[in-house]
Amino acid sequence: MIIHTQRDGFAHPLPSEITGQEIYQGRRALIQRMATGAAGLALAGWAGREALATSAAPGKNAALAATKSTLAGALTMDKVTDYKDASTYNNFYEFGTDKAEPAQNAQTLKTSPWTVEIEGLVKKPAKYTLEDLLKLSAQEERIYRLRCVEGWSMVIPWVGYSLAELIKKVEPLGSAKYVEFVTLVDPKTMPYVGSQVLEWPYVEALRLDEAMHPLTLLSFGMYGEVLPKQNGAPVRLVVPWKYGFKSGKSLVKIRFTDKQPATAWNKAAANEYGFYSNVNPNVDHPRWSQATERRIGEDGLFAKKRKTLMFNGYEAQVGQLYAGMDLKKNF
Ligand code: MTE
Repeated sequence: MIIHTQRDGFAHPLPSEITGQEIYQGRRALIQRMATGAAGLALAGWAGREALATSAAPGKNAALAATKSTLAGALTMDKVTDYKDASTYNNFYEFGTDKAEPAQNAQTLKTSPWTVEIEGLVKKPAKYTLEDLLKLSAQEERIYRLRCVEGWSMVIPWVGYSLAELIKKVEPLGSAKYVEFVTLVDPKTMPYVGSQVLEWPYVEALRLDEAMHPLTLLSFGMYGEVLPKQNGAPVRLVVPWKYGFKSGKSLVKIRFTDKQPATAWNKAAANEYGFYSNVNPNVDHPRWSQATERRIGEDGLFAKKRKTLMFNGYEAQVGQLYAGMDLKKNF
């Protein structure tokens, strides 16, 4: 997701980031480095993440009961990613740009009390407490793939319910066309919100029909427990057919608008991160291909990459939303 620098077709902001990513993606680079003796350094970064993972086993957070979803697309035969990978390899730039930093730094995030304000073009604007949101609809477990624009993916059993359930309650006006998701900015607990890396708060948005699609999940948990802080506690979005950055974490505001909202990554680099950001193997990122991906946890140094699927494999469910649109223009 980072702009300005380029390495092996991917771009990264910090030396520590480069270390972590190399284990997964830089087979060639790693082999070359092994030859020069520099691999020890990369493996030290890996060991650090492994050590962190031991304190992140499921069972650590409060249980969140859910029934298995029967929604088409809510189950996958793909192997579920290990909890330790899903909770220690994160993007949450408010807590750092290195993949291991959110798990280390986000523990200061205060998730209670928590409210989510619903405003803009709705008949019933409201401020929901987290407790009210949790009760608003039945919690389901849905196993979704999440594919990051950087070229890796995970398979996670999320807990939550369709965002549509909440949207129906607040009754959008006929003029509402988009939904904007505003996430928390708390300089006291988020060391990076003063940084220039993005404009804060981290904001994302969907078209109203995308937000209403049953697969769009308002998520409170994963692996049968409440969300770890680094994964976006206490409430986040999961939009499985879009690149991961559309899935805003730690939501505090949901705003209904008539104009397409400006989103964090689009503001940072409009030519690289479009409004739609549907997973699309046919549209390259300007600096790397999007045709393949690495599945975190399954990718040994010599494992083959997987082919990235159109709409991340959810084409049957969501393709119709984009009928007639030029998806190269609307990337
Ligand atoms: N939400 C906020 N508030 N801040 C972020 O930096 N990163 C996004 C998204 N949501 C991000 C965010 C990106 S780039 C991805 S890939 C996913 O969260 C990662 O979610 P995960 O760490 O739970 O896998």
